Amino acid sequence: MDKLIIQGGVPLNGRIRVSGSKNAALPILMASILVDEPITFTNVPRLRDIFTTLKLLNILGCVSTFEDDCVRVESCDLKHEAPYELVKTMRASVLCLGPLLARLGRAKVSLPGGCAIGARPVDMHLTAFERMGATFDLDSGNIMGTCEHGLTGAHIQFPFPTVGGTENVLMGAALARGETILENAAREPEITDLANFLNACGARITGQGTSIIRVQGVDRLTGCAYRIMPDRIEAGTYLAAAAITDGELVLEDCPFHELDAVVTKMREMGVWINEREDGVVARRGTELVGVDVMTMPFPGFPTDMQAQIMALMTMARGSSVIEETIFENRFMHVQELVRLGAKIRLSGRTAMVRGVESLKGAPVMASDLRASASLVVAALAARGETEVLRIYHLDRGYEGIEKKLTNVGARIRRVPE
Ligand code: EPZ
Repeated sequence: MDKLIIQGGVPLNGRIRVSGSKNAALPILMASILVDEPITFTNVPRLRDIFTTLKLLNILGCVSTFEDDCVRVESCDLKHEAPYELVKTMRASVLCLGPLLARLGRAKVSLPGGCAIGARPVDMHLTAFERMGATFDLDSGNIMGTCEHGLTGAHIQFPFPTVGGTENVLMGAALARGETILENAAREPEITDLANFLNACGARITGQGTSIIRVQGVDRLTGCAYRIMPDRIEAGTYLAAAAITDGELVLEDCPFHELDAVVTKMREMGVWINEREDGVVARRGTELVGVDVMTMPFPGFPTDMQAQIMALMTMARGSSVIEETIFENRFMHVQELVRLGAKIRLSGRTAMVRGVESLKGAPVMASDLRASASLVVAALAARGETEVLRIYHLDRGYEGIEKKLTNVGARIRRVPE
């Protein structure tokens, strides 16, 4: 397992190109199961989770190649089983359920385990597919889904705007018989990107980005070429890095308008952020001041930026309060930030952060993807050396992070642990 060694205290200056979005690419690659012609994707980030997804597609009978940022996929003789040893490494594997039910009328997908940030069940996915005519059995940890006559359109009302549930049902509905209405659908930009991809393949989806999505099922989908949207969470992470190191970064291909809630909060903290012709510029304005944040479904403040803005808050004047409303255990980064000298107190799903003058380097342990990003952001500002251990978590969602940061002046290197 590798670790990152970071000498903090260097203001970052320069340009970083935002990579394609992991959370758009994962469902969109799964959606290729629905299409019986070759598809070409560009702007695909080279990340562990992407390689895991391509491995799963391969096991399911799809042939794919991945050169530079371009993925070509063709679903050939599809199989219906997604094995546990793969699903347990990536929860998003459950997103093959909808496409397999729609294409084959059956699916055997291992029940995704929980993960560091919570139980993360899939009950809302299964309930929705049952309304569309599927039946499920649980057999030794596997979800066995069948709908031998294919899926039938239905009026789905999600109790919570689940991102994965909306994506899974959207993919199933694309080839279902008749109309499907998704009510209380998630509005994340990655869902809009998935819907736009499906429409480029001939699907008939409207309302994406709102909480009511309508899908008129079609008989088949055709191949196309599609560019994955840029990663708003990666971009937000680098905005935080610019501010905490008192540098100035220009983010190229930054999805600025998908970051409203994050930009609003960072501006409230005193971060100067503006969109220019050549990219989005971020630097610390006067001084950083504490703010309060509550994570919410889009367009609210994204839970995937909670850990990173907490790192920024540790060095903001005054106090900040963060309330994590999406996941039940998404504060694994707190104790590690405290090891760097941060002053943070937890009470249930609320963290109280009191700003300190400076942080001090120390060995810290990554626990999940965004917690790792938070530790890197803090380490970039901490005086002295920080070791971030178990950075395989980071490699799931940040393409070439040490190269991107080195290019803007960070003193960071990857070494085998
Ligand atoms: C997606 O996860 C993202 N993952 C997560 O990003 C992100 O944090 C999350 O959406 C919220 O925005 C991908 O897109 C691959 P949910 P997902 O279904 O689909 C509960 C990252 O760091 N729930 O909206 O799993 C669930 O337990 C990752 O990139 C049910 O109870 O999120 C959670 O508490 C982490 N039953 C809440 O809803 C269900 O059937 C939100 O889950 C489904 C979800």
